[in-house]
Amino acid sequence: MDQYCVMGNPVAHSQSPWIHARFAELTGQSLHYGRRLVETGGLVDALQAFAAEGGKGCNITVPFKFEAQALAQRTSERALLAQAANLLSFEPDGIFSDNTDGMGLVQDIQVNAGFNLRGRQVLLIGAGGAAAGVLGPLILAQPAGITVANRTRSKAHSLVERHTPLAGLHRVTLQTSALESVPGQFDLVINATVSSLSGAGSPVAASTLKLGALVYDMMYGPAAQDFMAWAQAHGAQARDGLGMLVEQAAEAFAIWRGVRPPSAQVLAELRHHLAQGTDRTPR
Ligand code: ATR
Repeated sequence: MDQYCVMGNPVAHSQSPWIHARFAELTGQSLHYGRRLVETGGLVDALQAFAAEGGKGCNITVPFKFEAQALAQRTSERALLAQAANLLSFEPDGIFSDNTDGMGLVQDIQVNAGFNLRGRQVLLIGAGGAAAGVLGPLILAQPAGITVANRTRSKAHSLVERHTPLAGLHRVTLQTSALESVPGQFDLVINATVSSLSGAGSPVAASTLKLGALVYDMMYGPAAQDFMAWAQAHGAQARDGLGMLVEQAAEAFAIWRGVRPPSAQVLAELRHHLAQGTDRTPR
């Protein structure tokens, strides 16, 4: 059986093994997908060990996405722009890296949530690894403009600067902003910070929300609750990042296996199981 896994720290509560097992079951693919806890400084050894055991590829999660990207011999354009990888494949001539997070986000917003990004005004809050992973694919969806607001303005500047040629190509206006003085109003506000974890509600003012705006937290579960509650309290639609998690996995599965799994079905199942707290072991 072909072996895959997710590597990170922590990984104990990762939903990826269940998601990939369910994809495999529904598409008739024969594979095993596990999880590996990697200690700080241990990524190279963990990758070598997994490849030596016959591993075909792995997903990479916090805090190793930057290091994983730097280790690759061959990379996709989107991982190069993000400077971060969430997928590695072991190939005969070395490691190939990719980043499926942004596509996962765009797919969840456009297909699962039915929100067309074309021509819209988007506010992306944050300029760390999570934001870097999604800015390129957001540009490719051709919104009218994207404002990147971050606590540390210089990080927003360098992220925007790196994406300016791509934005020019797709006629998307890119700009940066401070959190406390975001200019304008937005159809879509995406939280790519960890601010909800500190119970801070929202890092930006409610005046940024257009009537009926979609507000998206890239996290899910308790980590997304404060931001989503803030959005709902101000009349916006709120969506957590569970769909992004399933869609980035679906894209990884398609890259590895050449088959696109029924991601909307698996998302519905996962949401149901998480809400019920039921056993998610695939049959
Ligand atoms: P990740 O890979 O999850 O993006 P990261 O690279 O550490 O993690 O980035 C965390 C992001 O959350 C950054 O945009 C950070 O802002 P700074 O660049 O100023 O550090 C943002 N962040 C963290 N805590 C925050 C808070 N309490 N309020 C607002 N932004 C916060």
